[in-house]
Amino acid sequence: MDLGLKGKRALVTGGTRGIGRAIADQLAAEGCDVAICARNPDQVAEAVAALKAAGVNAWGEALDVSVEGSLTGLVERAAEALGGLDIFVSNVSGAMGLGNDPAAWKQAVEVDILRTVEGCEAAAARLPDGGSIVVIGTISAVEVPGPRRPYASVKAALIPYVKNLARDLGPKNIRANIVAPGPIYFKGGVWDMVEQHMPDRFKATIERSPLGRLGKPDEIANAAVFLASPRASYITGANLICDGAVTQRVDF
Ligand SMILES: NC(=O)c1ccc[n+]([C@@H]2O[C@H](COP(=O)([O-])OP(=O)(O)OC[C@H]3O[C@@H](n4cnc5c(N)ncnc54)[C@H](OP(=O)(O)O)[C@@H]3O)[C@@H](O)[C@H]2O)c1
Repeated sequence: MDLGLKGKRALVTGGTRGIGRAIADQLAAEGCDVAICARNPDQVAEAVAALKAAGVNAWGEALDVSVEGSLTGLVERAAEALGGLDIFVSNVSGAMGLGNDPAAWKQAVEVDILRTVEGCEAAAARLPDGGSIVVIGTISAVEVPGPRRPYASVKAALIPYVKNLARDLGPKNIRANIVAPGPIYFKGGVWDMVEQHMPDRFKATIERSPLGRLGKPDEIANAAVFLASPRASYITGANLICDGAVTQRVDF
């Protein structure tokens, strides 16, 4: 299927590894020009070089998105570098793995809510007719078997926000959706750490999965890139669960 992404311009936050990197790589493979950011400058340079090697225009910046105003500036600079912006993928989370102390809650609210909203608002203000926003959520926002920590709560806050964004931007033919991954495994990622340091939890998570395994970044990128593409032209305001049926709730 041709997703119709050739020549489009996309910004993916946190595009150097894991899910964000898979989304950036897949967008480039579809012929989309791609901008990324992450904090580690060497990894940004490596990812940009790999994206360019795929034959598209690519741009990256070493940036900590937890700083207020960082996303507004990033959206502007990425659009300038790519000659416009059609797609914004908000992928960074600062809340994964945080504890339950007040400082953790503050950081989680700051990065996962305030900076995500800042990035979406900046993108919404400049995306053209046919533009698309994809926010990476989590199944923890809809089913919470874990301990009480900010991660699930701050991610859950994005679900009504993105729905309202979709409804507000609909008349401009700009779409907004969430992709909510289940547990996704990659080397250096959170589930690699769980496998190494909490083998019982890792084993229990695999046993909880009807597919008998964790997901892969590419399996989330498949969904995110589709939702970002014109092929998903009638899908907006969705919270697409991609979890191999790990969650037990029914999606009414
Ligand atoms: N992995 C999972 O199982 C899973 C499950 C459900 C949902 N998710 C969601 O998927 C998204 C991506 O998670 P992931 O596990 O693939 O990757 P990750 O290990 O969280 O890293 C994601 C990327 O974000 C960058 N990043 C992190 N903090 C940043 C900051 N403050 N400023 C700028 N860049 C930053 C990282 O690079 P630097 O470290 O160099 O900054 C990296 O490129 C998150 O929203 C997460 O909540 C993940």
